[in-house]
Amino acid sequence: MPDPRCITLAAADLPKAWYNLQADMPHRPPPPLHPATQQPLQAADLARIFPMNLIEQEMSTERWINIPEPVLEKLLICRPTPLRRALDFERALDCPVKIFYKDESVSPPGSHKFNTALAQAYYNREFGIKRLATETGAGQWGSSLAAACNFFGLELKVYMVRISFEQKPFRKMMMQTWGAQCVASPSEETQAGRDIRQRFPDTPGSLGIAISEAVEDALTHDHTRYALGSVLNHVLLHQSVIGLEAQKQMALAGLYPDLVIGCAGGGSNFAGISFPFVRDRIHGKNVRILAVEPAACPTLTRGPYRYDFGDLSGMTPLLAMHSLGHQFMPPSLHAGGLRYHGMAPLVSQLKRDDLIEATAIPQLECYAAGVLWARTEGFIPAPETTHALAAAVREAKQAKEEGREKTILLCYSGHGLLDLAGYDAYLSGKLTNQDLPQAEIDAAIAKCPAAPAPA
Ligand SMILES: Cc1ncc(COP(=O)(O)O)c(C=O)c1O
Repeated sequence: MPDPRCITLAAADLPKAWYNLQADMPHRPPPPLHPATQQPLQAADLARIFPMNLIEQEMSTERWINIPEPVLEKLLICRPTPLRRALDFERALDCPVKIFYKDESVSPPGSHKFNTALAQAYYNREFGIKRLATETGAGQWGSSLAAACNFFGLELKVYMVRISFEQKPFRKMMMQTWGAQCVASPSEETQAGRDIRQRFPDTPGSLGIAISEAVEDALTHDHTRYALGSVLNHVLLHQSVIGLEAQKQMALAGLYPDLVIGCAGGGSNFAGISFPFVRDRIHGKNVRILAVEPAACPTLTRGPYRYDFGDLSGMTPLLAMHSLGHQFMPPSLHAGGLRYHGMAPLVSQLKRDDLIEATAIPQLECYAAGVLWARTEGFIPAPETTHALAAAVREAKQAKEEGREKTILLCYSGHGLLDLAGYDAYLSGKLTNQDLPQAEIDAAIAKCPAAPAPA
């Protein structure tokens, strides 16, 4: 009898090609613009920060892109990941829902970020790059890239958002164990970092600042390139293995989801679980797709759609995306991986085309869902992941009110075993919801560059 709690795939079922949704989208996102000239970006403009093989992937509209053998071999360390059914969580909710979760927490660093880290480290090595620089929020991306750089023989320097650096010292130790160097951002090691420290000595840091530092590092060191853990097309592409596997596993369960849920920081795990299902939706399938963000950093739900920089200093290309403004300073919530001002251009475009929905949830509700999950399913979710769980709770209650059955598939993007300070704050009643007055968003948007409106 098949295990009702866990649907596994054989190694032979690991996808051999990534799925590129750009081949099927009704409208592709407007092109990125050069930060200085505001003209559409050319591949050569990116050559100093990314290797050309990844730039080609970033711009590709091919539907399927083969996964190189050395990347497949390392993905097999933890893939195909299990699809689990949250039977005890369902029982506790007592609602007419079936909840399946794709368990990305089983990777060595503990999250989905490992999927793109392996690919990016491999392509950089193939291009002859010796060293990478990157930012990290909660530390999941930095530790994933550290593990991948270790496998592919690259040096790595990680700029970790200061508030997370202080809240999650063990992430830094993981990075060091895999051979990477990790500093708190803003740091004294880059001009961008020094400038911010002078202007805002007590800043908790942000992903936007850390990206500025990592890009500057790549530009000022030989044989070095920059790597990003979310937002860009090639990163979302690498995450498509999640949804491709989940489609096979849902078929084995004899079900098709009514609703696919992922939390969204820059959009990569959400894209990973959902894009193969978005393709089905484009082709007429009746499936809802829901991105969940923190109420304190509500990019898709409250950020206008416009061209904006990906970093605080304005060094990156201008991307057409939902943005709270590149100078927006998100509050120091514990879901550090969701503290980003922008959203992936591909995800932003899907929102504009009504192919996906978005919702924002306050952190106390997310922690409540995370604790219920831990006490029913046993696993302790990452604070980012609790956003997807809280959305599932809301949807389950709604199904009960409406007297309808629902099958929910969600991305369990990571475990929270190194995020326990957040749970401690929640359980001891120290955590509060953070309001975000409209005036703060307006003030950050006012500092955005005067760029043309995306077509
Ligand atoms: C566990 C986990 N989930 C989700 C995210 C959000 O990132 P993304 O939107 O790129 O998936 C992060 C980011 O660090 C993370 O660590």
